[in-house]
Order: sequence, then C-alpha cells, then structure tokens
Amino acid sequence: MIEHIEKVFGLHGEGFSCLLRINEHGLLELLHFGEPLSTADAEAFITKPGLGWGESVLLDENNTASCADSMPLAWSGTGRGDYRESPIEFGGISSDFRFAYARVLDKPEPMSTLPFAKGKSETLKIVMTQPGAELSLYFSIFGGVLTRHAVLRNTGKENIVLTKFMSSLMDIHGEFDITTFDGGWISEMRKHKIPVSENRVVNESVTGFSSHRHNPGFLLSEPEATEDSGIVYGFNLIYSGNHYAAAQRSLQGFTRVIQGISPSDFIKTIAPGEVFESPEAVLAFSEKGFSGLSEKMHRFVSENIIPEYWKNRERPVLFNNWEGCMFDFNEARLLGLAKEAKKLGCELFVLDDGWFGKRDSDKAGLGDYSINKQKLPNGISGLSKKINSMGMEFGLWFEPESVNEDSDLFRAHPDWILRDDFTPLKGRNQFLLDLTRPEVRDYIVENVSAILDSAKISYVKWDMNRHSVALGTKAHDYIIGLYEVLGRIFGTRPQVLLESCSSGGNRFDLGMLCFGPQIWCSDNTDPIERITIQENLSYLYPQSTFGAHVSAAPHAQTLRNTPLCTRGNVSFFGCLGYELDLKHLLGIEKKQISEQIAFYKKYRRVFQFGKFYRIKNGWQVTEGKTTLAAVFRKILSAAPGYEKLRLKNLDKAKVYTFSTFAQKLRVGQFGSLVKHVVPVNLNPNGFILRTADKFVTLPDGNLEFKASGGAFSAGIMLLPLFRGTGYDKNQRTLADFGSELFIIEEAEK
Ligand code: DGJ
Repeated sequence: MIEHIEKVFGLHGEGFSCLLRINEHGLLELLHFGEPLSTADAEAFITKPGLGWGESVLLDENNTASCADSMPLAWSGTGRGDYRESPIEFGGISSDFRFAYARVLDKPEPMSTLPFAKGKSETLKIVMTQPGAELSLYFSIFGGVLTRHAVLRNTGKENIVLTKFMSSLMDIHGEFDITTFDGGWISEMRKHKIPVSENRVVNESVTGFSSHRHNPGFLLSEPEATEDSGIVYGFNLIYSGNHYAAAQRSLQGFTRVIQGISPSDFIKTIAPGEVFESPEAVLAFSEKGFSGLSEKMHRFVSENIIPEYWKNRERPVLFNNWEGCMFDFNEARLLGLAKEAKKLGCELFVLDDGWFGKRDSDKAGLGDYSINKQKLPNGISGLSKKINSMGMEFGLWFEPESVNEDSDLFRAHPDWILRDDFTPLKGRNQFLLDLTRPEVRDYIVENVSAILDSAKISYVKWDMNRHSVALGTKAHDYIIGLYEVLGRIFGTRPQVLLESCSSGGNRFDLGMLCFGPQIWCSDNTDPIERITIQENLSYLYPQSTFGAHVSAAPHAQTLRNTPLCTRGNVSFFGCLGYELDLKHLLGIEKKQISEQIAFYKKYRRVFQFGKFYRIKNGWQVTEGKTTLAAVFRKILSAAPGYEKLRLKNLDKAKVYTFSTFAQKLRVGQFGSLVKHVVPVNLNPNGFILRTADKFVTLPDGNLEFKASGGAFSAGIMLLPLFRGTGYDKNQRTLADFGSELFIIEEAEK
C-alpha cells in the first residue's frame, strides 16, 4: 500500500514500511525504512536538528539547521553542502534537484533498455527538477521487497554529461556490519563481514560484468543480528554489468547506502530530450535475522525476476559432457554417455563446448556456428534426434559473446571486437565481440536462432569466459546490447531452459536471471567447496537458480576425494546434474547414482522450490508436508560428542516421521582396519580388498522414529558418530567430508 499525507509518503510492503518526506527545502528525506508502522507515525522520525551542527553550509541562511549534510536523505546532489557520497555527478558541475510533484502508479513504468522486476506491485514516482534536467525516482513494492530506480531526462538545450548515476541512496539510521560476497574463478561467493564506520566500504565490479569478484548483492545487519533474529537489510541490483555500492556512517549516525552502475569510466552524454535510466535496485528488510531476509529475497526472485514460463516449473536432471570429455568427443562417445545417463535416470543430455568450427581446444572456433562434421557427421540435428529417441531431451552450449582469432568470423570481421587504441588483449585466447554494434547483435541472434530451430533443443547453456577490457564508456551499452540479444532469442522461445554461465559464477546476478531461471554457480564442483558457494548464494538467491552437478573425485580443482553421497547430497539442493565420465564408474557407483536420481525426482519439488533454511552444519528445505535436511561434515575430530538435529518452522503440535536416506560405506575406505570387522588380516593393498571394494558396501546408520514438531525444533538426538571403537551399523560411520540426508514427513493422523 502506498499512502500520501501531504508531503509524507508511506510505502507499506509485507513486513516493512518506508516513510519518505519532502522537507521544507524540497529535498527527499528518508524518515524510516524498517519495521511496519503507520504513515501517521512519520512525525516521530523527523530529525530534531535544534540549532544545527557546527561548520554547516546552509541551504537557508536564516535557518542554522538547514544543512543538507546532516539530513537523512533518499537522494542528494553534488556541490551543495552534502559532503557524503553523491548519487549523481555531472563531471564537475553541481547538481541540486528539488521536488516538483509525485504520483502513485498501479504498475511500474516499463524500462526501455534494462530488465526489471515484474508482477503485482505499486509504484511511487517522485519527480524532482533543476534547470535543464528532470529526475524521476521510482519506488516499487513487490510483496516484502522495495525496488528503486532513477530516470534522468535532459529538458534543456545543451548536452548533459553524466559521470555518475546511482539507482538508490538511503540514509538509514543505525550501526551496521556489511556482508559482501567476493571471490574469483572456482572460488566464488566467499563471505566477508566488516563493521561499517566513517570510512567508506565499497562493493564494486569493474571487469565489465557483475563478476565473481564482488557479487552485486550484499547485506547490512545490526551487530547483534543472528540467523533467526535481529535486523538485517539485503540489497541487490537487476544488472549484469559494472556495479557499485557503498556504505558509510555519518557523524549524525546515518549509514548512507548507495547502489547503481559503477562510476568507474562511466560517461554518458545525454542530448536534449533524451533520457538515461539506471538499473533497478532491490532492497529488503527483515527483523527475523538473516533467514528472514533470505526468505524475502528468494520469494522476490522466484515471483518477480525469473521468466514467467519457468516460475515454479520443475527442472530436469541433466547430464553434461564437459568434465567427462572436454573437447575430446564424437557422436559415438556422446551417444554412449547418453545411453548410460538415461539408464541412471537423467532426463536431459547437454552437449557442452566443442561442437562447432575448429573447436578442438579453447584456441579456435569461437564465433563460428558451422557444425564440426568430424565429430558430429550427422550434425546437431542428427545427434539430437538420436538422443530424443532414447527418451531424453537435448541441450546445447553456446558462447556467443566471444571470438577466437583463429575463427572464420574473426578472419571476416576483425573489426567486430571490442578494442581501444592499443594491442587488443586476449583472455582464454579470445576477444569480446562489440555488442554495442547492431550488425554484431544480428549476427549472434541469427546464428544462435538458426541452430535452435534446426533441432529440438530444449536447454541452452549460455557461457561467457573472459573479463572485458577496452570497454571504457561502452561498458553499459555492451550490457544493454547483451540484454537485447537475449530478449530477441529467448523472448520468442520461452520454453527453452536457459542456464547462464560465465566461467562458473562470474555473472550470477538478477539481470541474467530475468532471461533464464538458473545459473551455473561455479566450475568448482567439489562438494565441500560447493557448501560454501551454494550456502552463500542462498542469502540472496533461491536454490532453484543454482546449477549443481555431481562430478568425479578426486576433484579436478582441489584434488579432494569425497564420497559420492556427499557429492549428491550437496547437489540435491539446487538443479541436479551429473558431469563426469560415466564409463569409469563402478557398478556400485552406478547403482548409487540411480538411487540418488530416483530420490531427487521423488522430492524434486521440495529440493527446488521448498523454503530453504540454513541450519547448523547443513541445510533444510520444506514444502507442504515434507522436510528434507542435510548435515555436512568437513574435518572430523576424534571421539565426537552426541549431536542433535534442530529443524526450523515445523508445526510444534504435529507429529512427523523421521528417516534417513540410506547410505552405504565402501569397504575399501577402511584399509587395514577391515581386520576389526572380519576375522582375517587382509592386506589393504591386496587383491581381495581391492576387489571387495568394487562390490561390497556396508550399511550406515539408519534411524527411524516419530516425534512432534516441537521435538524437532528443540533438537532430536542423532545416532552416535564413529568414535574409534569399531564399525556398527547403528552408528554414523562418517569420515571427513561425509554427510547425511534426513526425510521428515508429516505423519498421517
Ligand atoms: C566454462 C564453463 O564454466 C564450463 O562449465 C564449460 O562450459 C567450459 N566453459 C567450456 O569451455
């Protein structure tokens, strides 16, 4: 609901209120963003400046308190006495927008160049002006989330040179910690939390893309906030390019939070009559700690960001050939893998990199779309028909934004790459195509569309494997070009499941999610690393957006050897896939994978769309009467104590059954310790044990009982862990990197 009492605006969403006021100087003040309350309470939040602050530059010389620097604002100017960070810069010229008028709209005005949140909402448009320019500030309520963006119109006769233009500025009263999610290739989403003080904390990407270096999403929390209590704010941006956010406390105790396009190298000339729009910023508030915040963000992404067709639609279990084959495949090898994948229960076969041009390594072929007939004599269409006839869907990898020097495209159009006056720089042997040029965009749209129309392709992996250079002021136009391309290809093919990827999670953002409902989180599929990556993504994004695959162990990036059950248990909490050479699997491993896939399919809706909770050492998902919970172990200590499992949000008055997703132990993992279980002294490296390891498994700690929701909230006692006193099927014989999965179902009365 949006209320308007004279110059006070009350925006009331689910679980939050935002109160804004136009003050006597025509500036937009933020009175409150937090707990739900009445618009009539606005008076209580107006700052009482008394005689004002020393050293002030005054907006009204007769009023010692008229200093913009000490006001809690929701927008500000440059060079007019507010020395905190400004949201707008005109390359050294002051800016001073004052209130003109406001309107309540029953739906947001659509943006013309950028993706935006969709669905039921209400919008407040506040228009401010200064000579020669009009600024429209949009505030929209989507359930429990507030979004903001700004549009600048040149109403004058001269060009405007814009060098900084943020989407949102909020002066929130209080002391906060900021949590950012930073990293790099195979180490995405490392969580860092520091106090916000008088020094500015910046969360920015300048690689041309939203980047794995600094995800655009971040959190602000009261120091005492916990997972389930206390005040936490969440921020994100519907944008895939260079982003910027900063937080800084003022002397008056306000924390200024700003978000938008990175001003680094940003210059936009706006001609008379033209407009420039900023990406939409997403802001959420929770008084129920980090989990309350995540719940709001998840709902927003699921309901207002991902494409309509894929809302709540179950995703197939896929097999991807990349980690198993890399570039080394032909039709026979792919069909062999597909046959095996089908037997295991996979529903979609994805052919990754290497199917076109001279693409036998990452040194050639990008930019070309001719099918590599040596590998695929029957083309994509022949291959896909054979896969379809096995009862599987077919999906294909593309990397349309890049070009190798060794490609027909580059030979024909060397001028199509993004470049400056220096020698063009390569990353992974490739250049970026200049998506600001219409002929480049047409080339991509025509070629990708032709392939998609040449066969039954129900899934696309859209990859992008380098940072940008030489973008300068073109950075933003590149992203607009990319959005145009994605809209033209997938807008008319909504049923194609688009999974975006950028060397893993280098472009995990809300902009890309507006075009495709899932993103490949990371090339790092080691489950222990994935616990960190997926858990940290879960602060801001729902698990249905995570591409999560089981791959081989020891792992290619960490050399870590992890049990198959843990690889499965981690990947279940996302869109499950398998990505390894199935030919090398033992019979017992294949059996285990079939069981995993059958289990996942049975509970797929719960895993993909259930409410997600971070619990102690693991995760919980709940949908309807079913709860699934996993507990992950990293490094085990000797003689571990008894352990309880505490679940969240079960009905205390109801009764639930508890069972374990049965796991098996490989005998080989015990080495010479097997002598404690069998009466013969077996050589751990000998033929008998090595052979037995391929065929024999031992049951591991299965627990079944009934208890009330209250008991699960208090924490139920699990079976004991291995304590160095021998094997017992009624204990949990977990070693390092072990894990368990529990099923909790509401019992029939
Ligand atoms: C990077 C991706 O993240 C991988 O999954 C794979 O698709 C390769 N590119 C292919 O070159």
